[in-house]
Amino acid sequence: MLSAQSGVSDRRLVIGADGLVGGALRTYWRHARRAVTGTSLLPVAGDPEVVPLDLAGGPARWPTLPPARAAVLCAAITSLEACRRDPGGTREINVVQTLALARRLAEQGCFVVFISSNLVFDGTRPRRHPDDAACPQTEYGRHKAEAEAGLASLGDRVAIVRLTKVWHPGLALLRGWRERLERGEPIQPFTDLACAPISLETVVRVLAQVADEARSGIWQLSAAADVSYAAVAGRLAERLGCAAALVRPVAAASTGRLEHCPAHTTLEAARAASLLGVPVPEPWTVIDPTLAYVPEPR
Ligand SMILES: NC(=O)c1ccc[n+]([C@@H]2O[C@H](COP(=O)([O-])OP(=O)(O)OC[C@H]3O[C@@H](n4cnc5c(N)ncnc54)[C@H](OP(=O)(O)O)[C@@H]3O)[C@@H](O)[C@H]2O)c1
Repeated sequence: MLSAQSGVSDRRLVIGADGLVGGALRTYWRHARRAVTGTSLLPVAGDPEVVPLDLAGGPARWPTLPPARAAVLCAAITSLEACRRDPGGTREINVVQTLALARRLAEQGCFVVFISSNLVFDGTRPRRHPDDAACPQTEYGRHKAEAEAGLASLGDRVAIVRLTKVWHPGLALLRGWRERLERGEPIQPFTDLACAPISLETVVRVLAQVADEARSGIWQLSAAADVSYAAVAGRLAERLGCAAALVRPVAAASTGRLEHCPAHTTLEAARAASLLGVPVPEPWTVIDPTLAYVPEPR
């Protein structure tokens, strides 16, 4: 059971502080000297401010969480492939138990922030508006759309923050490409897969502000335009001084490896720009700093 007390705490909760976004958000709030409790899928020894919480366990098995003014739900099964392979099992986590936890937290007086995705849309048009009807083409996107719809009953006690691709220097894809290129091995980036990257720093700042100020409604963060992963790979090779021939672009559609290949991933982000002061970046201003590379001295 979660604590029944509410309303008086200045604490923040990060559900899923073991993930990329949740971990960065918890660090941000700690640096800002906010009281913050995180949850993680697996127990974390020696840190009383992180408690284990497995959404799959359901409400009866969840730990008592301290009273808090806001909670950001970062825990989810985020692999599109995992969702495609096990739609029922992953929906139980991403929709059913996520909604149960959100309702429980809201009943305690907590403002709830849910992170969603551009994949609630089908990618046939650029700059989707927040009020456009959901039209997901992936299992993961259907989970996000269903969770969003379920959260609507919480009214002004909930915010939905839709993100495009969260970009950061530790991105596994970038690391893998960099390692292969440095070994002189070819890489095969997709020509027909796009991203409208936003930086992890921007994401964290917006999540914190939306939570701290209980700013309800739908917030969308996005770069101004899409770039292809093939273009990113080409730029990386250039920055590393590698032979351009090592970059051998392929069409994702021809590999059959992707559930869906959206032509457009941008979201219309005017509300965040005007009300939160978040600029809508050009994609290369987000990507370029993550490609920086300082060679080892020989
Ligand atoms: N990163 C992006 O580009 C992006 C874009 C749009 C939206 N989002 C959304 O942003 C949120 C955070 O994403 P992220 O990039 O930080 O993903 P992430 O690094 O995969 O973090 C998600 C965390 O949830 C955990 N988790 C999985 N199953 C769980 C369960 N049953 N109970 C509790 N925790 C569980 C994961 O643990 P394991 O790793 O051990 O499974 C992981 O630590 C997600 O809702 C994601 O869909 C992310």
